[in-house]
Amino acid sequence: MLQLERVNVHYGATRVLWDVSMSVGAGEMVAVMGPNGSGKSTVLKAAMGLKKPSSGVVSLNGEELQAKPATVRPQRGMSIVLERRRLFPRMSVEENIMLGAYVRKAAEARETYDWVLEILPEIKPHLQATAGRLSGGQQQMVAIARGLMADPKILLMDEPFLGLSPAMVKTVLAIMKTINERGVAILFNEQNAKLSFAVSHRGYLLESGRVVLSGSGEEMLEHPEVKRVYLGVREAAA
Ligand SMILES: Nc1ncnc2c1ncn2[C@@H]1O[C@H](COP(=O)(O)OP(=O)(O)OP(=O)(O)O)[C@@H](O)[C@H]1O
Ligand SMILES: [Mg+2]
Repeated sequence: MLQLERVNVHYGATRVLWDVSMSVGAGEMVAVMGPNGSGKSTVLKAAMGLKKPSSGVVSLNGEELQAKPATVRPQRGMSIVLERRRLFPRMSVEENIMLGAYVRKAAEARETYDWVLEILPEIKPHLQATAGRLSGGQQQMVAIARGLMADPKILLMDEPFLGLSPAMVKTVLAIMKTINERGVAILFNEQNAKLSFAVSHRGYLLESGRVVLSGSGEEMLEHPEVKRVYLGVREAAA
């Protein structure tokens, strides 16, 4: 459903993505893994229209979107959960979540809201609380809830586990699985190879703005290069 074809992105004169091609099929969970500064966030921003590619094609269900503003994406079924959560800290949790529904009709939004709270029951006791008072993990759930309010067919997530406790990582992972099992495709970024590929159908390894490896989650975890560099597994001496 989502396709990036030879996407190049520059910041000023600096090229940060080099002919990046990726795809996410309907209902797929796909990980983009890479070290610091490798361009993971830029890939999602280019897909979402938050950063305009200097060349290349971004398409959703065959419709070219690279020249269109970010605001058309939610109407086409694409939504993003930004890194470090980006909530409005002084607004209530409920208000933050409802912001994700700005393109929807009220009745439909209400229906989605019920669905979202069913997937994220942990949020229910905090709906009237000020968002800034929640823990990091709770804020991440609110950010996910906001992303889901657009009723997306594909959800982009920028480092959903960043700064979370191991227990909270498990919770967020379970939530992502549930969302995915309900038929929503997910494209997410992560620096940790195990976290990236253990749960995803497919994955990409990004280094210095280039896709250097791709395959099924299993293939990625088993790949000698991934093992050696990113999982710290030493090959037995030959
Ligand atoms: N607004 C910007 N202006 C200039 N350069 C930028 C900007 N945003 C990112 N870059 C550069 O683009 C490259 C890719 O950045 P990006 O944030 O996409 O990487 P990342 O893989 O998401 O990194 P991280 O793991 O730190 O989140 C980096 O070299 C970064 O310094
Ligand atoms: Mg990033």
